[in-house]
Amino acid sequence: MSATSVSREVLAINGGSPVRKTLLPYGRQTLDEDDIQAVVDVLRSDWLTTGPKVGEFEEGFAAWVGAKYAVSFSSGTAALHAAAFAAGLEQGDEAITTPMTFCATANCALYLGARPVFADVSRDTLNLDPEQAAAKINSKTRVILPVDYAGHPADVDAILQIAERHGLAVIEDACHALGAEYRGRRIGSIAHMTVFSFHPVKHLTTGEGGMVTTDRSDFAENLRRFRNHGISSDARQRQTAGQWYYQMVSLGFNYRLTDIACALGLNQLEKLEANLARRCEIAARYTAAFRSVPGVIPPSVRSNVNHAWHLYPIRLDLSKLSADRGQIFRALRGENIGVNVHYIPVHLHSYYRERFGYKG
Ligand SMILES: Cc1ncc(COP(=O)(O)O)c(C=O)c1O
Repeated sequence: MSATSVSREVLAINGGSPVRKTLLPYGRQTLDEDDIQAVVDVLRSDWLTTGPKVGEFEEGFAAWVGAKYAVSFSSGTAALHAAAFAAGLEQGDEAITTPMTFCATANCALYLGARPVFADVSRDTLNLDPEQAAAKINSKTRVILPVDYAGHPADVDAILQIAERHGLAVIEDACHALGAEYRGRRIGSIAHMTVFSFHPVKHLTTGEGGMVTTDRSDFAENLRRFRNHGISSDARQRQTAGQWYYQMVSLGFNYRLTDIACALGLNQLEKLEANLARRCEIAARYTAAFRSVPGVIPPSVRSNVNHAWHLYPIRLDLSKLSADRGQIFRALRGENIGVNVHYIPVHLHSYYRERFGYKG
């Protein structure tokens, strides 16, 4: 349908019939019979958690992204918490991050008594601007925490260079970017630690779930301990070794991902390439369609990346439009298109305003 034919129709919010009869959700999992079977097989097995599927999923995932180690977690949020802990973030430290993200990115610093410091984003990608991040570094900074917004990789090389000059760790929040590539390398193989989410709207789902990838064995060891109460071995390792003795050596949590979830993740991993290809196809169609619509700015993609297309965020040039964002949002929802706003900048949430005094 051309832009001209759309403009002549009566919008659903003005009494017309919606372009879709049912809601197009902003994200939804794709599960096939073989995914369901993989879960059923685990339900019939001896190990519902801390069993063999955990290691299989972690190994498969690490190999897929090209990292030495992958450590699974019960959510992307838990994975962020663990990565920040493994990087040594402590009370009084600072982590530089982007405000253009889901609040979990910044919250992981707060869990450890550290402070998230927000630096501005680049105009084209809306990702953390490396120069802006560099300008926020001081003696309390320990971590830089870029996000691959919408699935477009952050400028990781530039951020790593800055981090290395100052002895900082880089934790890349790639919860949007499984399968994305930066300068020919898969996301998950570049930063000191990279964090993924397996929430149902993501590229691969385990219901809830997350992963941290890293090439450093010390980080991997800390991450595994942190997700298991700070205990240095898990139940299956002890059973296999015929031992009962264990020590809790640091404070940790129960952030383990079950075998039920890992079996699903492992099966979904096989379909990831096809999922990414389909996302690219749809994004290309959107871009071709939106390019000719005045006032709508499609997302830009830098030439040195492959986008993972978790989201397709359009921007509005209000000077060319007779409606504002709220009206356009309501009109699209009226047509049964499940759009969302990504994001309210983190520092403008009431918790952050009240705690840190940020103003709009
Ligand atoms: C950028 C970003 N980071 C972290 C998270 C948290 O992941 P989870 O929902 O798996 O805890 C999300 C979730 O959507 C996210 O979008």
